[in-house]
Amino acid sequence: MKEVRLSLFGFGNVGRALARVLVEKSAVFRERYGLEFKVVSVADSSAVVWLPVGMNLTEALNVKETLGRLSAWTNDYEVFNFSPVEAVREIDADVVIDVTNDKNAHTWHLAALKEGKAVVTSNKPPLAFHYAELIGEAERRNLPYLFEATVMAGTPVIGLLKETLLGDSVEEIEAVLNGTTTYILTMMEEGASFEDALRKAQELGIAERDPSGDILGIDAGYKATILHCLAFGPTTFDEIEVRGIDGISPEDLARAGKAGRTVRLVASIERGSVSVEPKEVPKGSPLAVSSTQNAAVIRTDLLGELVIQGAGAGLKETASGVVSDVIKAALKV
Ligand SMILES: NC(=O)c1ccc[n+]([C@@H]2O[C@H](COP(=O)([O-])OP(=O)(O)OC[C@H]3O[C@@H](n4cnc5c(N)ncnc54)[C@H](OP(=O)(O)O)[C@@H]3O)[C@@H](O)[C@H]2O)c1
Repeated sequence: MKEVRLSLFGFGNVGRALARVLVEKSAVFRERYGLEFKVVSVADSSAVVWLPVGMNLTEALNVKETLGRLSAWTNDYEVFNFSPVEAVREIDADVVIDVTNDKNAHTWHLAALKEGKAVVTSNKPPLAFHYAELIGEAERRNLPYLFEATVMAGTPVIGLLKETLLGDSVEEIEAVLNGTTTYILTMMEEGASFEDALRKAQELGIAERDPSGDILGIDAGYKATILHCLAFGPTTFDEIEVRGIDGISPEDLARAGKAGRTVRLVASIERGSVSVEPKEVPKGSPLAVSSTQNAAVIRTDLLGELVIQGAGAGLKETASGVVSDVIKAALKV
């Protein structure tokens, strides 16, 4: 049995879903891969809890869910107020997992790689702004730096581009990468105003309290930037064109509907060019997804057109992508 030490940053929705998968599927990971995961630290924005012999994740979940903050944890555990950079330097671990929403996390991703630790992340801004630096550092050190869950949650579009289509040259990708905007556009097609559709999405927990990242196309833009980096080489979010769905009216949707079309926030990715904007797509198109489904149409020289469609958000679904990467990293370190 190979024991692999994990250091987990972020204990919000995805972090806790990941912890549950690690608890519930530990026997599967032992049997299937000969891997025994030992979580040596868990951090939220209030504290880092560190136990080198490995902690009881069920207890960690209880503390977070009942007390709200890991800093409130006492008992036998050591609670520190390390910055993430200090934590990745201090804590002995094989894999650092970032499931935070820390926009500056590239600093501690780099620090972790420099310490010889693999990194797995679902956090988009580090890659959307610092892809070349992060991948360069990981390659120089021959360390896994994995990010499946940053685009389309657990639906393996990253693995497809990075590990499967090895002989193909990608020519173009068109994709719907943000479920919140799809939900709002669908509600508007059914007659709701933009404001009512947004309110409903917030009530259902589909849109965040500050929905601007989704509505203005920033979230889809981060993901489209990451896909460009994989398919065509490094770019950054600053270099792409982004227009959100804030200017779309029910009349626009009705006009599209009469012509057998629907409007979706579409990312168009070609070599050296990335745009995200609302576009009319035929109702039968693979891009006419509903709810929190995402889809990508990938055109390559050898395979022609390939469609990958599946969950683009959700907690178990995102945990699926993170866990796959953790297993890949664990088998390599
Ligand atoms: N939810 C999805 O469906 C989904 C899908 C794909 C990707 N993602 C990405 O996955 C990440 C997590 O999403 P989420 O829904 O779990 O968000 P969330 O519920 O807001 O959780 C974020 C967590 O990160 C912690 N945190 C923030 N800065 C930190 C820092 N510097 N050090 C340690 N912990 C820190 C927060 O601490 P507190 O608990 O103290 O606030 C919280 O526990 C985000 O980057 C998100 O974009 C999410």
